[in-house]
Amino acid sequence: MSKVALVTGGTRGIGESIAVELKEAGYETVSNYGGNDERAREFSERTGIPVYKFDVSDFDACQEGIAQIERDAGPVSVLVNNAGITRDRTMHKMTHEMWQAVLDTNLGSCFNMCRGVIDGMRERKFGRIVNVGSLNGQAGQYGQVNYAAAKSGIHGFTKALALESAAYGVTVNAVAPGYVDTDMVRNVPADVLEKIVARIPVGRLGTAHDIARGILFLVSDEGGFITGSTLSINGGQHMY
Ligand code: CAA
Repeated sequence: MSKVALVTGGTRGIGESIAVELKEAGYETVSNYGGNDERAREFSERTGIPVYKFDVSDFDACQEGIAQIERDAGPVSVLVNNAGITRDRTMHKMTHEMWQAVLDTNLGSCFNMCRGVIDGMRERKFGRIVNVGSLNGQAGQYGQVNYAAAKSGIHGFTKALALESAAYGVTVNAVAPGYVDTDMVRNVPADVLEKIVARIPVGRLGTAHDIARGILFLVSDEGGFITGSTLSINGGQHMY
């Protein structure tokens, strides 16, 4: 029987690619999404991947969403915490709301989702969790104290949960994408983005596929000895 894989923010951008590639690799894949019904419907019709709408920053909504997915598809064996938002602004202009929204959605979601699947994974002695961090959580970024703090938090969260889970056949890893050609990066002002791309050693933005391939490797059965790691996928930008 195929393993059930759940991708948050899995109908657009990097999450869409992760979900499609997991499905193509034989996982019974389901995608969560938060807001864009039209896009989710179009995605689900095109790919055949079922979609579940709930807010990953809401603890109770996550527990209900996971319970529904497990009733429909079976126990979740692979969880990819991909959902994330930006609310970029320099610190002296950032509102508390912009801070809190990014912390809750990008980092709080990892707790909310992992809490919902971890008991089952430990009982079944198998699980794969991948949290999507960011180059900007490793290096910091102008205009992103909220995002960099949340993504940096993901890297600590990943290592702590990996330690707790290792003896139960559950691996917990992170990927740290750099600048990838998605709606999120297209929102960066063009002149700023041009300077950022000029500093990427491979000379281009990443593709969603570049990130999805790394995740597929981490969740595979053969990836069982990799845990608490962060895979940097950023065209070499982490070396700057
Ligand atoms: N380094 C140095 N200067 C920078 C800069 C950077 N990385 N980014 C912006 N600036 C400069 C601008 O060019 C501008 O300069 P001038 O005043 O000389 O024109 C100045 O900072 C803007 O300062 P403000 O105080 O007016 O900034 P603001 O509060 O209005 O915020 C901003 C502007 C939101 C930071 C905007 O410049 C921006 O969106 N920058 C890009 C931030 C970014 O890289 N976000 C990543 C999004 S993608 C992502 O997060 C995915 C991932 O994981 C990698």
